[in-house]
Amino acid sequence: MNVLVVGGAGYIGSHCVRQLQTAGHSPLVLDNLVYGHRHAVASDIPFFDEDLGNRHAVAQILKENNIDVVMHFAAYAYVGESVTEPLKYYENNVGNTIQLLLAMQDAGVTKFVFSSTCATYGVPQSLPIVEDLPQSPINPYGQTKLQVEAILKDLAAIGKISSAVFRYFNASGAAEDGSIGECHDPETHLIPLAIDAATGKRSALKIFGTDYPTPDGTCLRDYIHVDDLSRAHIAVFDQLEDPKAFVHYNLGTGRPTSVREILDAVEKVTGLPVPAEEAPRRAGDPPSLYADNTKARQGLGWEPQHMDIESTIATAWKWHHANPDGYAS
Ligand SMILES: NC(=O)c1ccc[n+]([C@@H]2O[C@H](COP(=O)([O-])OP(=O)(O)OC[C@H]3O[C@@H](n4cnc5c(N)ncnc54)[C@H](O)[C@@H]3O)[C@@H](O)[C@H]2O)c1
Repeated sequence: MNVLVVGGAGYIGSHCVRQLQTAGHSPLVLDNLVYGHRHAVASDIPFFDEDLGNRHAVAQILKENNIDVVMHFAAYAYVGESVTEPLKYYENNVGNTIQLLLAMQDAGVTKFVFSSTCATYGVPQSLPIVEDLPQSPINPYGQTKLQVEAILKDLAAIGKISSAVFRYFNASGAAEDGSIGECHDPETHLIPLAIDAATGKRSALKIFGTDYPTPDGTCLRDYIHVDDLSRAHIAVFDQLEDPKAFVHYNLGTGRPTSVREILDAVEKVTGLPVPAEEAPRRAGDPPSLYADNTKARQGLGWEPQHMDIESTIATAWKWHHANPDGYAS
């Protein structure tokens, strides 16, 4: 398949590009580099420095390169910022996605894979989270993803664009060879923050909330390796052949891990202490979020390879250790 990876210079997109190559597909990358890194994409991969909202330019790229499938990773994803600047999020995550879908229609491309999020469930009514739980996001970021899901469902119903929606839990880790990894600026994700605290690149890590109704009082999350996420995106291709297909899957390990367990695992993997300080709960942090991934296992024949949090953190450490300043290294 010729696959246009939109947002392919970002964290998850760049790992998916690698997995596509390994699986024998031909990835091409479109990214405006607002948050992405040119060096996250190998020089032999066709790269288009373009904004996904430029319908006509994108349609031309789709046509000229005989694209079969579009994978859409590009979005703004800072939950706190989405609360203070909601229009920025609706414009890029929804408005520009509509332009991308219009470009696909212009070019006759009919298969789409979309990065959604467990944030669409809001505070889940029950755990583990199954796909048919009510979706009621508690911030604009989650709302933008839910709106795109609704658009995709409508397009599939009329046989215009078939789509696979993946609701990720916490994407983590890095390529096994340590050559690409997580490099966000600003960084808000726990594992890279803990590694930076361990190496002294940042000051003490803040543990937000130690009085949650969880075994050790800290929040429980589901850390899924970025290569496991990527493999699911490729396993779904067959299901997109039906023009009316609209499939959606949770992508998580199904294993809850607490903030304290992450810090302990980072200390074990790096051999360095993680300085940490306790802080009050943050508004809008549900105590526990973890997936029931039965549907993805059964529907895609997919199995996460990294079920042990230390193995996931070991890949992140390999990347951070070799590249202390990320891609600037
Ligand atoms: N990282 C996670 O844990 C996580 C969890 C759930 C969902 N997601 C979703 O997965 C996707 C990828 O996340 P990530 O962590 O790799 O993010 P990222 O910021 O590393 O990558 C996003 C990429 O999209 C590009 N981009 C953004 N707007 C663009 C535009 N208008 N035109 C062209 N390129 C644009 C950025 O430059 C960046 O390279 C996002 O949609 C995010 O919402 C991520």
